[in-house]
Amino acid sequence: MEIKDAYNNWSSTYDDDKNLTRDLDEKVTRKILNPLKVKSTLEIGCGTGKNTEMLAKISGKVLAIDFSERMIERAKEKIKSGNVEFKTADITNKWDVPDDSFELITCNLVLEHIENLDFIFAEASRSLVKGGNLFVSELHPFRQYVGKKANFEREGEKNEIHSLVHNISDFLNSAARNGFTLVKLDEWHNDNNEIKLPRLITFLFNKK
Ligand SMILES: C[S@@+](CC[C@H](N)C(=O)[O-])C[C@H]1O[C@@H](n2cnc3c(N)ncnc32)[C@H](O)[C@@H]1O
Repeated sequence: MEIKDAYNNWSSTYDDDKNLTRDLDEKVTRKILNPLKVKSTLEIGCGTGKNTEMLAKISGKVLAIDFSERMIERAKEKIKSGNVEFKTADITNKWDVPDDSFELITCNLVLEHIENLDFIFAEASRSLVKGGNLFVSELHPFRQYVGKKANFEREGEKNEIHSLVHNISDFLNSAARNGFTLVKLDEWHNDNNEIKLPRLITFLFNKK
């Protein structure tokens, strides 16, 4: 199944399925970003808007984009804040935003589906104001190394969504090549994680 079709399919149950990665992502994103106050945020791969409401509270305005029409539909049903605009777009194509136009860009659980990290970091760098922040949260590569990827169930069958493995150094080097400095890197476990593999990795970068 194509990635977009998979998310269109998953959209009807994405918010309600048991999903430890989604829940931990929401928790750590709030912890890191809640203290910020920014004029404008671009959320790439917003999905059903799990993090959008929080972004609307810390931002003067939010542009939230995703290539799955159905994920966006779910987000629009839930998010009623007047300062959020949703747009359907594929982030592997040039982003339809002006240069130097956002103070914060967020990207949660999306880059495992993107082959060319450099393109994303380059577009983020172009779209951010100088001194702006880029926050990235991803399934930890250690989990990818043992074969974990985004997946959902339909009629008792597990559907795995096409994913690419990015090493920690891939994120750091791509960010550095595109004018970012690393402000904060964290690795996150579930509270009762038996196998001791971190579930998530988060990066906060700053555009020089
Ligand atoms: C696991 S969901 C995460 C959604 C949301 N950020 C969250 O944390 O709940 C991944 C999202 O990335 C979107 N996505 C994947 N590849 C994309 C692309 N090339 N362009 C735009 N959105 C994309 C999918 O449609 C999906 O909504």
